[in-house]
Amino acid sequence: MVEKRKDYVLFDENSQALVYGFQVNAVQRMLDFDFICKRAKPSVAAIIAPGQGVSHKFFYGTKEIMVPIYSDTVRAVSAHPHADVFINFASFRSAYSTSVEALNIKSIRTIVIIAEGVPERRARELIALAGKLGKHVIGPATVGGIAAGAFRIGNTAGTIENIVSSKLYRPGSVGFVSKSGGLSNELYNMLALATDGAREGIAVGGDAFPGSTLLDHILRFQENPEIKMIVALGEVGGEDEYEIVEALKQKKISKPLVMWVTGTCAKVFPTEVQFGHAGAKGEGGRKSADAKNSALKQAGAIVPNSFNDFNEKIRETFEKLRKEGKVKDLEEPGVPKIPKDYLKAVAEGLVRRPTNFVCTVSDDRGEEVAYNKVPLSKFFKDKKSLGSVIGHLWFKKDLPPFAVEFIEMALMVVADHGPAVSGAHNTIVASRAGKDLVSSLCSGLLTVGPRFGGAIDDAARCFKQACDSGAAPQAFIDSMKAKGLNIPGIGHRVKSATNPDLRVQILKDYAKKNFPKTKYLDYALEVEKQTLKKKNTLILNVDGCVAVTFLDLVSSLDIFTEEELNELVDIGYLNGLFVLGRSIGLIGHYFDQKRLKAGLYRHPTDDILYL
Ligand code: ACO
Ligand code: LMR
Repeated sequence: MVEKRKDYVLFDENSQALVYGFQVNAVQRMLDFDFICKRAKPSVAAIIAPGQGVSHKFFYGTKEIMVPIYSDTVRAVSAHPHADVFINFASFRSAYSTSVEALNIKSIRTIVIIAEGVPERRARELIALAGKLGKHVIGPATVGGIAAGAFRIGNTAGTIENIVSSKLYRPGSVGFVSKSGGLSNELYNMLALATDGAREGIAVGGDAFPGSTLLDHILRFQENPEIKMIVALGEVGGEDEYEIVEALKQKKISKPLVMWVTGTCAKVFPTEVQFGHAGAKGEGGRKSADAKNSALKQAGAIVPNSFNDFNEKIRETFEKLRKEGKVKDLEEPGVPKIPKDYLKAVAEGLVRRPTNFVCTVSDDRGEEVAYNKVPLSKFFKDKKSLGSVIGHLWFKKDLPPFAVEFIEMALMVVADHGPAVSGAHNTIVASRAGKDLVSSLCSGLLTVGPRFGGAIDDAARCFKQACDSGAAPQAFIDSMKAKGLNIPGIGHRVKSATNPDLRVQILKDYAKKNFPKTKYLDYALEVEKQTLKKKNTLILNVDGCVAVTFLDLVSSLDIFTEEELNELVDIGYLNGLFVLGRSIGLIGHYFDQKRLKAGLYRHPTDDILYL
């Protein structure tokens, strides 16, 4: 059971917050603080952010945790009744209504309003409501605050590195309060150097009507026995600091209070200056920084002559406490290790890891994708065609025009061969079974193999090896027969010497006309002469023709080495031409059946022999 918190303690190591607004960076910073403080549980119980899902992943050290997200405050509170801090990142437009809702919820004890620009009337209404309900308000227009080693509000105290250098990962003896969040970061560092560090730091915000004043927090620090001295930063404009003067006079503040009111430079301006904070008007008279500093000094605060010796006064005060035995040397916990985000560490050259993938054919990281280092736009600028893209992405070569043309021809001749072939048949059946495009296409492509469409690479290998070895065609045929193997690239179910495959004719004619030499095609045609003697369907089929003409093409180009040609055959690039080309036809058959609204196909039983 968590011990009830003392009234003067707003935040401790068990405090949990509900964060209103999808502020994932601020939440991650709170969790990073929790981690280096070794908190038992995260300080953020939940996020309230309509439409942002049901949870969000965050790092907790190097591990990951899920923080739940709720669409409204009531749901979040009912799920997390122990979360008594409400950090409101709503904009000035909705900060008031969301803060009123939170204040009226019993379990919420402290609300922090980050937004600037909350109308003064609304701010005063919030102050009155909080007073009536006995709640605490920090802000508006604040970065928040921090309980060293225990609880951080949002982005308070800046980077995690600054938090570590300010030793805020463990409590010191100083209570600090300021109007300015920015100056607070500087003061946390100053306190770490001049004292044993802050125990708590609050930025009340720069509005004219803050939800809690500098004095409110000074009096809390006065009550907190763990706080031995108080440091405060006021601002020119307004009268808040005179409340502190009165409290000093009434001896309500007995601990050493080192305080400075910023904005003394206002006096050099000929007219009234409005400084950054809404409440910081460079007014003269008792609202001037000088007037406030001297009033504070007279009332007993320790006030430096300028901001420059603020640090010295703080140090002197702390040393005096140490001499009086009021502060003991802290047992410093080890400086916590800060997990660094991977991308940041990479950017800083702090980490490296081996990549799992290597890609040498394309790169999408630049302004536009590059195929084999050639920007896509250059293909269009140079009026290149699809064959050139294939040359770069498959072969990593800038193929000459006739090679590009040949590839496109090969794609065209293999694009389709009617609905009866096994590939088209499967695609049609799948399409009629209601399958989608990809499934139907894959169904057809799965028939591509050693007998249908997928014989190109085998044909290239066999014919190249036979031809290069100088084997006579008949000897090659006999050797394949002896192995019980069909010659890949030879034979067809319907095409024959008397019913020639014109696709083969197109490729043969092109090769004869354009290639410097066609030794592999010639060899294959010699083989065909022999095989046709056995059966007139044992023609050089389209797979075989693509294979041997491609061998002739590549061997006639001086951009491929012999090794690259052998690699091309060994790896088996060429079946890719059939797969790519035939996909065009299969997709056509898919659409055709969809257009026809063809129903489920069932094979007729009279076409099946039931043994
Ligand atoms: N090499 C040597 N002999 C063959 C070949 C061949 N490629 N194809 C068939 N034969 C022989 C058979 O061994 C058989 O001889 P046998 O009577 O002594 O037993 C005879 O010819 C008939 O064989 P079938 O298998 O009935 O012939 P079919 O016409 O059915 O085969 C097929 C056609 C499957 C294409 C076959 O020729 C073959 O497997 N070829 C090699 C693979 C190939 O190139 N496929 C691509 C086809 S084109 C395309 O798919 C786009
Ligand atoms: C095709 O290209 O699909 C054909 O050569 C195969 C066939 O049986 O027609």
